[in-house]
Amino acid sequence: MGTGFLFLGLFLATAVGGGAAKVNEPRPLFVFGDSLVDNGNNNFLYTSARADTPPYGIDTPSQRPTGRFSNGLNIPDVLSSVFRELIGSEPVVPYLSPELTDKRLPLGANFASAGIGILNDTGFQFGDVLRVPLQLEYFREYKRRLASLVGEKQAKNIVNKALVLVSLGGNDFVNNYFLYPFSPRSLQFPLPDYVSFLMSEYRKILKTLYGLGVRRAILMGSGPLGCAPAEIAQHSVDGECAGNLQAAAELFEPQLAEMVKSINAELGADVFVAANTKLMHNNIITDPHSYGFETANTACCGQGPFNGVGFCTATSNVCNNRDKFVFWDAFHPTERASRLIVEQIMNGTDLYMRPMNLSTIMYLDSSN
Ligand SMILES: *[C@@H]1O[C@H](CO)[C@@H](O)[C@H](O)[C@H]1NC(C)=O
Ligand SMILES: *[C@@H]1O[C@H](CO)[C@@H](O)[C@H](O)[C@H]1NC(C)=O
Ligand SMILES: *[C@@H]1O[C@H](CO)[C@@H](O)[C@H](O)[C@H]1NC(C)=O
Repeated sequence: MGTGFLFLGLFLATAVGGGAAKVNEPRPLFVFGDSLVDNGNNNFLYTSARADTPPYGIDTPSQRPTGRFSNGLNIPDVLSSVFRELIGSEPVVPYLSPELTDKRLPLGANFASAGIGILNDTGFQFGDVLRVPLQLEYFREYKRRLASLVGEKQAKNIVNKALVLVSLGGNDFVNNYFLYPFSPRSLQFPLPDYVSFLMSEYRKILKTLYGLGVRRAILMGSGPLGCAPAEIAQHSVDGECAGNLQAAAELFEPQLAEMVKSINAELGADVFVAANTKLMHNNIITDPHSYGFETANTACCGQGPFNGVGFCTATSNVCNNRDKFVFWDAFHPTERASRLIVEQIMNGTDLYMRPMNLSTIMYLDSSN
C-alpha cells in the first residue's frame, strides 16, 4: 500500500509535468479476457468457473487462493512484475474487487473473467461470468470513475498510454464448439468457417477497444488447446495432443496475426500485436526437459489419467515441485510456464510476436 501511494505520487508528478510517456513513468495495464488472465473477478460472481479454494495459490507468499488459475502468479502478474523492474507498475487489481481504490485506479484494472470467449454463447454453462460486452461496459464505467478523479483529459491520457493484454478464443473452442459432439456451433459451421466467424467478431471487439482509447494491446493466441491435460485425458491414450483442438489452434493463430495486420493497416498504426502462444507453448511441449520441466502432458493438480479429469480441489493429487510441470491444473499453466510465455512476449522474435515484441514497443513508446 505504501509503495502504491509512492508510485501514484510519482505518476501524478510526471503527469502534471506533461509530455509523452517516459521510460521511468509507471505504465497502466488493462486486462481483458478469460481464465488465463482473470486474477479474481470471478470470486465476486455466481459461477462455477473459479479458483478461490486451495490448492490454488499454493506458491504465493500467503499460500492462499486468490482467484488466479495458477499455483502462484499468472501471466498478467508476471507482466506487471517485468514492468515493475522496468518502469515501476504494480500488479493490477480485479475490477470487481474493493481493493480497486481511487489510489490504485490510475494504474489500471483487470476486467477478465474465467469461462468467457469471443462469443456471447461461449461458457454459458458457467453462469454469471463477465462476457465481453460486460467487460467493455465496466471499462467505460472505469473511465468515468477515473475522469471524475483526475479529470477528463488526464483520464484519456492514462488510457492512451496504457498497455492492454487480451486473452480470448480458447474457450470458443473448448467451452463451445468442441464442448460436446454436435454442439450448436459445430452444426452451424465447419471448423474453418467458425474460425473466420470468430475473427470477424474479435475484430469488432478490437475496434471497440480502439474507440475507447486503447493504443497498445497484446492479444494472446488460443494456445495449444489440444495439449491441455484435460483434452489429453479425454481424447488420447498415449499422451498425444488431441487432434481436433490442435487443428483449431492451427487455424486460429495465423488468422489472428492476419486480422491484426489488417486492422493495424486500417488504423494506420501498430495498435494490436498478436502473440503466438501456441508456438511458444509447443516448443516447451515438444521438448519439456530442455526447459527444465519433467512433464508437459500431466497436470500438477487433478485426478485421473494425466491428472486431467475434473477440477483441481483440496482432495486432488498435487505434485510436489510445481516448477517441473508445464500445467498447473487441467487447463492452465504453472507460474513457471507463465514466466516463459512472458519472456517470449517481451523478447520473442517475429515468429512469436507480430508485428513486434513488447521490448520493441516499450522502446518505441519511450522515444516519442
Ligand atoms: C453479444 O451481446 C451484446 C449485448 O449483450 C450484443 O450487443 C452483441 O451483438 C452480441 N454479440 C453477438 C455476436 O451476438
Ligand atoms: C528480455 O531481454 C533483456 C535483455 O536481453 C533481459 O534483460 C530481460 O530480462 C528479458 N526479459 C524477459 C521478460 O525475459
Ligand atoms: C525482440 O526483442 C529483442 C530484445 O529484447 C530484440 O533484440 C529483437 O530484435 C526483438 N525482435 C523483434 C522481431 O522485434
